[in-house]
Amino acid sequence: MGVSIKVPYVDLGRQWLAIKDRAIPKISEVLESGMYLEHPIVNAFEERIANKLGVKTATSVNSGTDALIFALAALGVTRGDEVITVPNSFIASVAAIEHVGATTVFVDVGPDHLIDTDLIEQAITPRTKAIMPVHLEGKMADMVSINKIAKNYGLLVVEDAAQAFGSKFLDYQPGNLSDVACFSFHPLKSLNAAGDGGLIATNNYELAEKVNIFKNHGQVSRNTSNTFGFVSRLDSLQAAILNVKLDDLDSIITVRNINAKTYEANLSNHNIRKPIIPAGVFHSYHLYVIEIENRDRIQEILKNAGVETKIHYPKLISDQRAYTSKYPEKKWILPSAKKQSQRILSLPIHENLSTSQLNYVCDQLGKYL
Ligand SMILES: Cc1ncc(COP(=O)(O)O)c(C=O)c1O
Repeated sequence: MGVSIKVPYVDLGRQWLAIKDRAIPKISEVLESGMYLEHPIVNAFEERIANKLGVKTATSVNSGTDALIFALAALGVTRGDEVITVPNSFIASVAAIEHVGATTVFVDVGPDHLIDTDLIEQAITPRTKAIMPVHLEGKMADMVSINKIAKNYGLLVVEDAAQAFGSKFLDYQPGNLSDVACFSFHPLKSLNAAGDGGLIATNNYELAEKVNIFKNHGQVSRNTSNTFGFVSRLDSLQAAILNVKLDDLDSIITVRNINAKTYEANLSNHNIRKPIIPAGVFHSYHLYVIEIENRDRIQEILKNAGVETKIHYPKLISDQRAYTSKYPEKKWILPSAKKQSQRILSLPIHENLSTSQLNYVCDQLGKYL
């Protein structure tokens, strides 16, 4: 018999129940209209997001990965270019760079798991075209320093903000200081669709227009394509759901912050390294990541106690076969990211957790340690 789950890592069924009464009429409206693509709700959602982020324009696409690929391509990043990013992200960050034909240059991360801005300049070469910080876990990287370096060297900045809805650095949100920020609406994200979805946020209308053309068969108008494009539109149904979810986003992030405080107060064992939040960062707690010795053993113990956890991410992208088979000669020295990949553990932090569930996680960890 399997162990009964006492603390699920995420509870999408309960999330649906929380919005069901408000979402069903919107879903029905879309279904009855027959406009399953390009219903006005898609544009309405984009406008709301642009306002919320404080950017001039937001363009939805079919995934966060497409958002990154299209953003890089629309900015002209291509074969022969280098893009600086981190190795401790989801594979899609680097896949996007490689898909546009550019090559990835990895920079190590700091104790906060974010790009170490002190290491960026030494990674810049005459071929560097862009910097792609990843706002991992819901913590924004230091966009002021990154922007300054980019300006000094004439580089583009493409933010991987897939995990960073609701995050801030000082008063800046993703998209405010860069050329473009790319978001994901994957079901496990804080602002999540019932399927795939993504978005680019930018102050550059020309860039947004290019992405609009890429995502729709290269069409500049019906039956006219001046370039070959792709199909990557956000479904109207997903936009209907996301529009309702957006109403709740701020309160969800507040609850996640309250949950984090409970962990902060109760995870007292000195063997646990709690999340490090750099000065100026507002953490949206997409993930609550601790560092711990014997991580795999502890994950197993928690699993046996009915606590689901995850690891974001156990293998660096520079160690993935997708990367090593393409660049067998490359040997990256990334000690900090490497060490963290063996120690990190993401505890449940979602908005449907009760205080007793959070305390249970702390107790189980305390018992072992
Ligand atoms: C950091 C990061 N970048 C990119 C992506 C890709 O987003 P998607 O799954 O929507 O393609 C994700 C999420 O899955 C992510 O966490």
